[in-house]
Amino acid sequence: MSKDKDNIIKNYLKKINLIDKYNQSYYEKDSPVVTDHQFDELKNEILDLEKKHSYLTEYGSITSRVGYKPSSKFAKIKHSKPMLSLANAFDHLDIEDFEKKIKNYLNNKNLDLSFSLEPKIDGISASLTYKNGLLIRGLSRGDGETGEDILENLKTIEQIPKKIKANNLPEILEIRGEVYIGKKDFNKIKDKFANPRNAAGGSLRQKDPKITSSMPLQFFAYGFGEINPFKFDKQTNFLEQVNKWGFKTNPYNFLAKNIDEVKKKYNEIEKVRADLDYDIDGLVVKVDDLHLQSRLGNTSNSPRWAIAYKFSSVKAITKINDIIIQVGRTGALTPVAKVEPVTVGGVVVSNATLHNEEEIIRKDIRIGDYITLQRAGDVIPQVVSVDLSKRQKNSKKFIFPKKCPCGFETIKEVNPNTKKEDAVRRCPDRGYECQYMAKEKLKHFVSKDAFNIEGLGKKVIDQFWSLNLIRYPSDIFNLNFKKIQELEGWGLQSVNNLKSAINNSSRIILDKLIYALGIRHIGQENAKLLGNYFTSIDKFINLFDLSKRKNLLNNINELDGIGSAQIKSLEDFFSSKKNKDIILNLIKFLKVENSKALNKNGKLSGKTIMFTGGFEKISRSEAKSIVEDNGGKVLGSLSKKLNFLVVGNNKPTKSKIDKAKILNIEIIAEDEWYKLLNI
Ligand code: IVH
Repeated sequence: MSKDKDNIIKNYLKKINLIDKYNQSYYEKDSPVVTDHQFDELKNEILDLEKKHSYLTEYGSITSRVGYKPSSKFAKIKHSKPMLSLANAFDHLDIEDFEKKIKNYLNNKNLDLSFSLEPKIDGISASLTYKNGLLIRGLSRGDGETGEDILENLKTIEQIPKKIKANNLPEILEIRGEVYIGKKDFNKIKDKFANPRNAAGGSLRQKDPKITSSMPLQFFAYGFGEINPFKFDKQTNFLEQVNKWGFKTNPYNFLAKNIDEVKKKYNEIEKVRADLDYDIDGLVVKVDDLHLQSRLGNTSNSPRWAIAYKFSSVKAITKINDIIIQVGRTGALTPVAKVEPVTVGGVVVSNATLHNEEEIIRKDIRIGDYITLQRAGDVIPQVVSVDLSKRQKNSKKFIFPKKCPCGFETIKEVNPNTKKEDAVRRCPDRGYECQYMAKEKLKHFVSKDAFNIEGLGKKVIDQFWSLNLIRYPSDIFNLNFKKIQELEGWGLQSVNNLKSAINNSSRIILDKLIYALGIRHIGQENAKLLGNYFTSIDKFINLFDLSKRKNLLNNINELDGIGSAQIKSLEDFFSSKKNKDIILNLIKFLKVENSKALNKNGKLSGKTIMFTGGFEKISRSEAKSIVEDNGGKVLGSLSKKLNFLVVGNNKPTKSKIDKAKILNIEIIAEDEWYKLLNI
C-alpha cells in the first residue's frame, strides 16, 4: 500500500472513531459532547473523504453510522400476518408462466383472471394499524414475521393519516404500503445517501422522530394486513376505498382484464418510468379477486397470487480484468468476472457472474475480453456477450480449475433420474473442512430467513473469519467482544448492539434452526416439513444416532416433498462426526422452541393422507395445503401407517388402490372428501 493511501486510511479511521464516540454520547447517553455544528462538520469531512476515495467504504461507512444507523432499540412486534416478498418476472414469458401456474393450482384452465397492476415503488414497506380510525401501530417489515415499532417516525409523514373519520370504517384496519423519497427531494440530500431507497430506510429508522420529520418522506398505500370486519372482494375495490379514506394510492394503478392487457400496460408504463418523480423498478401484478388470492395462499416466502414484473435490465460495456472462482455454501464453484468498474443503471458494478464452467466454454469468455453486461433489479449482473473484434491475439482460453481452492478434487454429480452430469463443479466436503464453504455456511446461518442477526452481515462474517474469531456456528454465541471492540470500525455502541442481537437470536424455532444449518436440498419448505415431523430438537438430533437414522430417514422419505436427493443429503450430513460435534456444541447455546404443531384441532389432526389421481375441483397442491391447514400430513408413498387414501376421479392408479385395500387403509372417493372438508 502506498504511504499516501495508508495515511488517508488512518486519517479516515480516526474521524470515524471520533464520530462513533459523538454518536454514542448523543444516541445512547442523550448527552451530546459537541455542538450540532461541530458534529455536522466532521460528518461532512468524512463524506468528502468517502467521495474522493471510494476504497474507504471498505473500512466502514458513514451511512452505516452517524444517526443513519438503524437502531436496534426499536421494540419488536409480530406482524398480524407475515409481510411477504415477491417472486420476480423478467419478461412476457415469465408472466404467462405466472398465469399458467395460477390456473394449474386452481385446476381451472379456462378461468378468466383479471389483475390489479400497480407500479412497484422502490422504497421501504411499512404497516399501519388503525383501531376505530385511530393510528395505533406502525411497523417496519423487519424479517417479514416480526417488525419494529416505528410508529412515532411514521406519524411524522404528512401523507399518512393519523385519524380517519368515515362511517364504513372497519374496527381494525391494517394498511400496508411503501414509504419513499421523490427524485427531486432526493437530489437535495443526495450527497448523504447512496440512493432514494437508502435515504427512506435510514430516515425511517431514526431513534429520534425529529430527524425523520425533517426528511421529505411520502407514502403510497398498496395492501392490507388484518382487517376486521373484512368486507372487500377485489384488490382494486380495496385500493379505491382506501383512497377515499385519505390514503394516497398510485395514480397509475390499473385493472387489467387479462394477461394481454398486463403486457400492454407494462410497455406503456415502462415508457413513462423516467418521467415519474419516484423510482419504480417494475409493476406488481396481483390477482384481483381476493377470494382466489386466499385460495392461492403463499409459498414460504411469497404469495402465489402476485409477482413483481421487473422492467428490462440495463446494459453496459466493460473489460474482464480477471476470473476468480467463488465457492458457495453447498460447494458449488462459481466463476466470477472481475470487471473494470462501470456504472449500470446508477450502480457501480465490478463483478459479474459467469454461472458455471459450461457457460464459460459456451460463450468462450476469457480474461481481457470486452463484454456487454446486464443488470436487472437486485439480480447479480450477468455477461450477455463477448466482443470478439476487440479480443487480443495472444488471449488464451480460460481453463476451469479442477480443484476447489481448499485443495479438494472437485466432482460433477450425476442426476440419478436423467443420468446427466451436472453443469456445476462441487467441492465434495460435507462438513466444515473446506474453509471456503464453511465461511459461506456461516453467512447463510446468520441470514435473514435463518438466525437473522442484525449487525452480523456478510462483510462482518468475512472480517471475523479473517481474524480467526469464528470458524463454527457456536463461535457466534461465544464471541470475544473485548477484542471486537478494539477493531477498526467497531465501538462500544456497535458491540453492545451486536451482543443483544446475538442474544435475541439464540431463541429460535426448530424449523429455522434446521434451515440455518444449510443442509443441501433442505430449503425453507423442507425445513418446515422436518420441523413438523420432529417437533423438538431432542428428536431431531436422533438423526446423528446410527441405530435410529435409517428408520427415521425411511419415515421422512414418505413425506410428500421429500425425495431421494433430500434423503441422500440428510444421510451425508448426519453421518459426519464433525457435523455432529458442531451441532451438539451449537445447541448448548440455544433455546430451541418446538416447531408449531400442525393444527391440533383440525379435522385431520394426527392423520396421514395420500392422494392418487387428479381432482376435478382443485389441484394437487391446493389439496395438500388444505390437508395441512386441517392438521394432517400428506405422504408421498403408501405404507401401513397411512390413514386415508383419497382417490381423485381423474386417472387414479389402480395398483395403489389395490395395495390400500390389502393393507386395510380407508379409501375416500373425491366427492366424499369434498364433503368431509366442506370444499
Ligand atoms: S405487494 C405479499 N404491492 O415490493 C405482497 N408490494 O418485493 C407483497 N412494493 O416489500 C407486497 N410497491 O416493499 C406490493 N404495489 C405494491 C408494491 C410493493 C412496492 C414493494 C414492497 C414489498 C416489495 C416486494
